[in-house]
Amino acid sequence: MMRGLAFAVVAAAVAAGLTAAVYGASAGVTTLLILVALGCATVLAAHAILGARSRIGGLRRQFALLAAVAAAQLAIAVGVFVELMFVSAHDAFFTVIVAAFAGALALWTGRLLGRRALADVDAVRRTLAAVGQGRRDVATELAGQDELARLGADVDAMVARLASEERARRGLIASVSHDLRTPLTSLRLLVDAIDDDLVTDPATRRDYLRRISTNVHALSSLIEDLFELSRLEAGDIRWSMEHVMLGELVQETIEAMRPHAEAGAVAVRAELAPRLAATRANPEQIQRVLFNLIQNAIRHTPADGSVVVRAAPATEDAIEVEIADTGPGIAGDDRERVFEPFFQGGGDGARPDAGAGLGLAISRAIIEAHGGRIWLADAERGTCVRFRLPTTAA
Ligand SMILES: Nc1ncnc2c1ncn2[C@@H]1O[C@H](COP(=O)(O)OP(=O)(O)OP(=O)(O)O)[C@@H](O)[C@H]1O
Ligand SMILES: [Mg+2]
Repeated sequence: MMRGLAFAVVAAAVAAGLTAAVYGASAGVTTLLILVALGCATVLAAHAILGARSRIGGLRRQFALLAAVAAAQLAIAVGVFVELMFVSAHDAFFTVIVAAFAGALALWTGRLLGRRALADVDAVRRTLAAVGQGRRDVATELAGQDELARLGADVDAMVARLASEERARRGLIASVSHDLRTPLTSLRLLVDAIDDDLVTDPATRRDYLRRISTNVHALSSLIEDLFELSRLEAGDIRWSMEHVMLGELVQETIEAMRPHAEAGAVAVRAELAPRLAATRANPEQIQRVLFNLIQNAIRHTPADGSVVVRAAPATEDAIEVEIADTGPGIAGDDRERVFEPFFQGGGDGARPDAGAGLGLAISRAIIEAHGGRIWLADAERGTCVRFRLPTTAA
């Protein structure tokens, strides 16, 4: 309010100065007194209206009251000046006419703009109310460049995002239910068979128990992965971070997976740049990423193919690891989606060694939680997944 009053006084002083320059000091002083009084009264009235906004009601009423204050001060100013300063009735008449005309036009244009703005505000409100009631197929559809249009665009983007997140969640629940049902159904059949004494000879019995164990294993690792993924996505991370030498971690993981690779006649080797800087990471989690990526590569590489894991500095403060295989590669349409939870491309779900489609989603969550990035790189042959981690120097 003080700034409003100061503005009124300064504006009055400028007007008074101009008057004094043209009509002399006495006219200047009179102008100053009238305009300071009027200006301060207008500012006080405007503040009183704004202070009582919640009692006055909608924006339309607030606009109207403020416009009425502005019009009243114009009318009073014209009236006082006509009374005190004009000599000729002719001048006074035309001044009143012009001032009234200008005031009316200003009110009309203000109302026009106000109506547009309020219609936009209504559109935003209606959209938000519909979203609150659960609808996701709505949009404000405000066009233009002004603040309200930008507000509308933000609201539309939010609604679109909500809709896609809900779709993803529904898809996730459907996938989880499906993936839980398959092993559970097998388990039920196996257990029923044993329970009904259908299995009598010890060899079959052992076989059934082995299959039960496999299914229980699949179930618990699926639930473990899901739990891990939801924790990662919620940002609930309780790892200790250490200095990790990525080269050693790669070597270790490859050695651990060698039997698995040899079973499929796939050659696995590492190509490590000398003197790799350390990264700050949790070694178990990064090993898990390496394991997922190398497992995928081995799984998709036919006999006599090869998998190469390379690690090299990417920039001064980042290390890049690449897992390249000589398998069939990933088709264009799937490339965007392989990092989504439960995505399995190219009929993978039907493979006997198929997983749940969580490996890459978990790997991405882990790498991003370390401040890194993971992506599918272009490759002439096979698949090439790369990830980048900041070094301790970064
Ligand atoms: N090296 C690869 N070559 C070809 N396709 C791949 C490769 N890696 C991943 N994919 C494709 O991406 C899909 C998703 O991989 P992801 O690791 O997330 O799941 P998964 O391996 O099917 O199951 P999980 O990892 O949970 O055991 C795979 O089903 C497969 O279609
Ligand atoms: Mg996998």
